[in-house]
Amino acid sequence: MDKFLIQGGRPLEGRVAVSGAKNAALPAMAATLLTDQPVILHNVPRVRDIGTLRSLLDELGVDSAVEHEEHGNRMEIQARRLLSPVAPYELVKQMRASVLVLGPLLARFGQARVSLPGGCAIGTRPINLHVKGLEMLGALIKVAHGYLDAKANGLRGANFKFDTISVTGTENLMMAAALADGVTVLENAASEPEVEDLANLLNKMGACIEGAGTGRISIRGVTRLHGAEHTIIPDRIEAGTFLVAAAITGGQLVLERSEPSHLTALIAKLEEVGVPIHTTPPRPGTFDCPVLEVRAGGPMRALDVTTQEYPGFPTDMQAQYMALMTQADGESVIKETIFENRFVHAPELARLGADISIDGRRAIVRGKTALTGAKVLASDLRASASLVLAGMAAEGETMIDRVYHIDRGYERIEVKLNKVGARIRRISEVP
Ligand code: EPU
Repeated sequence: MDKFLIQGGRPLEGRVAVSGAKNAALPAMAATLLTDQPVILHNVPRVRDIGTLRSLLDELGVDSAVEHEEHGNRMEIQARRLLSPVAPYELVKQMRASVLVLGPLLARFGQARVSLPGGCAIGTRPINLHVKGLEMLGALIKVAHGYLDAKANGLRGANFKFDTISVTGTENLMMAAALADGVTVLENAASEPEVEDLANLLNKMGACIEGAGTGRISIRGVTRLHGAEHTIIPDRIEAGTFLVAAAITGGQLVLERSEPSHLTALIAKLEEVGVPIHTTPPRPGTFDCPVLEVRAGGPMRALDVTTQEYPGFPTDMQAQYMALMTQADGESVIKETIFENRFVHAPELARLGADISIDGRRAIVRGKTALTGAKVLASDLRASASLVLAGMAAEGETMIDRVYHIDRGYERIEVKLNKVGARIRRISEVP
């Protein structure tokens, strides 16, 4: 298992390019199951979760080809036929987002057998709403031997209101409803940019979806979808992690290929903390992305934050923000409202010298504390990112074990950060 050895105390400086969004590319890949024609995706990030979903599509009998492009990968995926409707435990346990094949398989082939994902480091994360919604569309779903067995003899449109906002739940239902008979209305739907990106792809494939990006999405089912070409949106969480990386090291970074409008809550919070961020709009007449520039180095003050669904402060930035608050003056209360167990990074940050206490869903961080390098353990994707950030701010050497978690969702983070002045060495251990 790989480890990172980080030499801390070096301010970052330079330009860094943001990759395509993992959480937009995954549903886009699942959506290719909805047509027998080729779907071409650009700006697909080179991260491990994408490889896991590709292996799953391969098991189902889907053809895919990958080519390197200047920015990310180009993937051409074609689901001509179905060899097997099974998403096996071995793949689903590696990545819960595998459940995204459930809706498309049911809608196009009338059957799916998907392993239940089981527990997760950050919470119980049930998929009851995916199931309930698909049942509303007419699916028959049973649980046996650790698998969801789903069948449908043609799905039909229905109204469904989510009890809790669910990102992949909304995506699964949107994909299923795209081929259902009649109109589906999803209420209390997730409005994350990744949901909107999926709707844009589906509409290019011939679907009829309105309202994606809001809490009410309506989908008029069509009988067939066709091939399309689509570029995945920039990864707002990777971009946010880079903004915090500049802030925590007192550095200056220019972020290329980001989408600042997806980062409004984080940018507002960082500016209030004392980290100035400047957005330059694209040159008129071009399709360039705006450029984000962060110039840190001044004093930072502690500020409370509460995670919320989009457009609120993202839970996927909570761990990184906690690392930052260890370097701000004063006490901050970080409230996690999306997942019930997403503070696993706190005791690891404490090993580096952070002063953090946990009270249920609230973490209280007292800053500013001097961090010193130590050995720590990565427990999940975003927790790992927070340890990399803290390691860069710590004096001396930090060794992070189990960095495979970070490789699931960040494209060679150490290479990108080293280019702008970090000193992170990957130590690969052959098992
Ligand atoms: N929930 C239910 N029942 C369901 C579905 C969700 O109770 O059927 C609950 C969950 O337990 C959780 C809340 O609803 O408490 C929100 O979960 P959601 O379904 O929105 O999460 P997700 O779709 O499984 C996606 C991202 C996560 C991100 C969350 C929240 C993907 C592939 N994953 O997960 O990303 O944290 O939304 O924004 O899109 C990450 O990238 O590190 C990551 C964990």
